[in-house]
Amino acid sequence: MKKITTDHAITRWDLFAESYANNHGDEGDLHKKVLLNPVIFQMIGSLQNKRLLDAGCGEGYLSRLLSEEGAIVTSVDFSERMIEIAKERTPEHMNIHYYHGNCEELNFLPDVSFDVIVSNMVMQDLANFNKACAEMYRLLVTGGMFVFSILHPCFITPNSDWERTPEGKKLYRKVGNYFAEGVYEQPYGEPENVYFFHRTLTTYINTLVDIGFRIDRIVEPTISKEMLAKHPEFADALISPNFIVFKLIK
Ligand SMILES: C[S@@+](CC[C@H](N)C(=O)[O-])C[C@H]1O[C@@H](n2cnc3c(N)ncnc32)[C@H](O)[C@@H]1O
Repeated sequence: MKKITTDHAITRWDLFAESYANNHGDEGDLHKKVLLNPVIFQMIGSLQNKRLLDAGCGEGYLSRLLSEEGAIVTSVDFSERMIEIAKERTPEHMNIHYYHGNCEELNFLPDVSFDVIVSNMVMQDLANFNKACAEMYRLLVTGGMFVFSILHPCFITPNSDWERTPEGKKLYRKVGNYFAEGVYEQPYGEPENVYFFHRTLTTYINTLVDIGFRIDRIVEPTISKEMLAKHPEFADALISPNFIVFKLIK
């Protein structure tokens, strides 16, 4: 079998860019609006005049929200089409600087040039997590913050699925292949699948610690009663988390 690299994975993101973007409004898609954005914004706190990197910005909804919070935003994505769409969607007054670049190698950005780095649902999409995190560490000032979210690696694994009632109600997750680190494909409603790079929680945490990050906080987003009343389709978030969000300090 041929080795799947970040370059292979990104060709898929280029193909999906249009439909991915169509799924995203001002607050992202519904999962981001309901589960991820509230956690990310609470973790980051005040952003006024902070130099911020959105690493793997996609169509840029989060960059725009962060800019509205007062951050000075630089955004990078390895899909050229995503960057084009992000630029089209960003009003000029926001002054967000978009770059085409691979988070594993951001040589064009100088050392210690950001106070905050955010990376929303990107780190499971690239092949070399160690290299990407080392880049984030290089780019941050001492005391700077790296907040990133990923698919929860303990619950979303190659071939994991839900056990359901005959009526289709989700009961519990069937999780297999947890220790099978490596690339796998997931359907994305398109003719081609998207690539994910599965790693154990041990690999995620030990990589971050070995690079020198301090883990400040972890959140496994669930749903409040109020939100559940508005979005009953997210009831599975009460059973087990889809995502995990890390807040790290350099
Ligand atoms: C699931 S999307 C998330 C996009 C955006 N952060 C959001 O929350 O909507 C993953 C994004 O990561 C980008 N990506 C994947 N690998 C990357 C890499 N090595 N460097 C930079 N961007 C990458 C993809 O092009 C895609 O836009």
